Amino acid sequence: MRLTTTFAETRAAMRTATDRIAGLVPTLGYWHEGHVALAEAARRESDVVVASIFVNPLQFNQQADLEAYPRDVDRDAGIADAAGVDVLFVPDASEMFSEPPMTRVSIDALSGGPEGERRPGHFSGVATVVTKLLAGVQPDRAYFGRKDAQQLALVSRLVRDLSLPVEIQPVATVREFDGLALSSRNARLTSGGRAAAVSLSSGLMRAADAVDAGERSAAVLVEIAMEAMERAPGVRPEYAVVAGADDVQEIETVDRVSFLAVAATVGDVRLIDNLYLDFDEGRVAPDRGVWLQEPSAVYR
Ligand code: PAF
Repeated sequence: MRLTTTFAETRAAMRTATDRIAGLVPTLGYWHEGHVALAEAARRESDVVVASIFVNPLQFNQQADLEAYPRDVDRDAGIADAAGVDVLFVPDASEMFSEPPMTRVSIDALSGGPEGERRPGHFSGVATVVTKLLAGVQPDRAYFGRKDAQQLALVSRLVRDLSLPVEIQPVATVREFDGLALSSRNARLTSGGRAAAVSLSSGLMRAADAVDAGERSAAVLVEIAMEAMERAPGVRPEYAVVAGADDVQEIETVDRVSFLAVAATVGDVRLIDNLYLDFDEGRVAPDRGVWLQEPSAVYR
C-alpha cells in the first residue's frame, strides 16, 4: 500500500496502468468494520482501491465535535492495508482547503428533515468535500455506507445533477453482534452507554419484523422505534422518521424504497441509525445489514 498526501500524487499512483477501474472509499478515519466493508466492496469491483482519510471541518457544526473525533492514521493504515486498499490518501488541511473555499455545493432539498435541521450546514459540508474528492481523485466508482442514508441520497443526487463520471455504490450497514450499527463514535460510549445504545437498532429490528408481518404505516414503525429508545436508560431520543430513499421526504405509507431513520444522544455521544426498506418483486424487504460475530475493532 502507498501513502499519498496530494491529489496529483494520488492520481499518479492510481493510474500506473491504463483503463484500470478505480474505486474510492472516502472516510473521516478511525476505521472499523463498516469501512472495511466499503473497502472490500471496492476491492471486489475495482483494479485499484483508493481510500481517503480527512476529518472534514466543513461538515462539523460544533467545534467540540470536530476536536473529539478520534484520529489514528497508523492504526487506520494497518486496517486499510489488510482490507486490500492500494492507495491511502491522507491529505492535510492545506491540500484540501488551503483557504476557506468560496465554492460550496448545497442541495437544499435534500439537506433538511430532522437530521439537517439539527446540523445546519452539515450536508453542504459533506457535499462540498465529496465533490472535491471526486474531482481531485477521479475514481470510476465511490463507495458509501447505507448507515448515512441522507448522505447517500445527497451524494447520489449531486453526481447525477453535475454529471460527474462516477458510479455511487451503496454498501449495507455493518452491525455489532447485538445489532448496534458500527460508528467511530461508539468508541466514546461508556459501558452503560454501550448497553443502552443498542436500543436504537433493537427498535429498528422490531420495526423490520413488523414490516415482514405486513405493517406499512410509517406512524406505527416510528412508534416502535421511538418506544425502544424511550425505554432505554440514559438515551435521549431525538427523532424517528420514515422518508423516501431518493428525495428524503417524509412519507406516511411504505409504498416505495425508503428508510426508517432514528437519532438519539447517549451520554454525550450522538448516534444515528436506519433501516432501509427495499422492494423485492413488489414485497417490502427490510435491510437488516451485516452482523459481526466478534466485538468490533472500533474498541481496539
Ligand atoms: O461518511 C463519511 O465518513 C463522511 O461524511 C465523508 C463521506 C467521508 C465526507 O467527509
